[in-house]
Amino acid sequence: MDKPIPDSTSPVADHGSRFYEELAVWWPLISPPEEYAEEAETFRRLFDEYATTPIRTVLELGSGGGNNASFLKAHYELTLTDLSPAMLEISRALNPECQHIQGDMRTLRLGETFDGVFVHDAIGYMTSEADLRAALETAYLHLRPGGVALFVPDYVRETFVESTSHHGSDGDDRAVRYLEWAFDPDPADSTFTVVYTFVLRDPDGTIHVEHDQHTLGLFSREVWLRLLRDVGFEPERVVESYGRDVFIGRKRG
Ligand SMILES: C[S@@+](CC[C@H](N)C(=O)[O-])C[C@H]1O[C@@H](n2cnc3c(N)ncnc32)[C@H](O)[C@@H]1O
Repeated sequence: MDKPIPDSTSPVADHGSRFYEELAVWWPLISPPEEYAEEAETFRRLFDEYATTPIRTVLELGSGGGNNASFLKAHYELTLTDLSPAMLEISRALNPECQHIQGDMRTLRLGETFDGVFVHDAIGYMTSEADLRAALETAYLHLRPGGVALFVPDYVRETFVESTSHHGSDGDDRAVRYLEWAFDPDPADSTFTVVYTFVLRDPDGTIHVEHDQHTLGLFSREVWLRLLRDVGFEPERVVESYGRDVFIGRKRG
């Protein structure tokens, strides 16, 4: 018989610190890399479509477990950066051929430029206009003239809808099931909340329950396009096949 599920006594942290630190080892089961093939191909096509000269080197800000990178690396030389050393460790195991660097997307300064910059859902951790602007500026400063940056927030203000869903997967010796609930406690501010409850099955069969709470940024298209322009980009917006807005920033060549 399975062991009983203990009550979770874990404190609820903000900004995903548990998710990306002590729970990082579970990331490949929470968000399996193979689920990213289709969207990574969308981003590759957008890079190609918007580039005026071939894209060879790409910097990713907030690369997390490196799921998109695991497909994009077939096409580009990738430099992967993230705030969390634990997530970089997960990504190193998946993408040993890529360079990994720890850094905050608001302040990272590598002193080199790339043909492309990619910022996927990690841009959601920018919860104020000042933070979002700082991350866009980091992208701009790391792009060579003529280069292309792609930004893929999960939502913009105009597309946000409250949602509840459940997910999970089985590994060789561990398994995860979890509930994800996104809601917006204050539609007047620039954030929304995502709460997770994870049911984790350890290799020895022990079940434990953990929860986590993330505060994520929510900005209108007008704010996105204005900030992109402010930092120097020529911005465009497209809607990709999952219905997400993708913001494209070109640096004048
Ligand atoms: C959902 S994961 C990214 C997964 C990634 N899109 C992929 O394809 O695997 C979000 C990541 O954002 C990172 N993050 C949060 N705030 C950050 C910041 N200020 N600078 C850099 N990374 C940050 C977290 O550490 C986490 O690894």
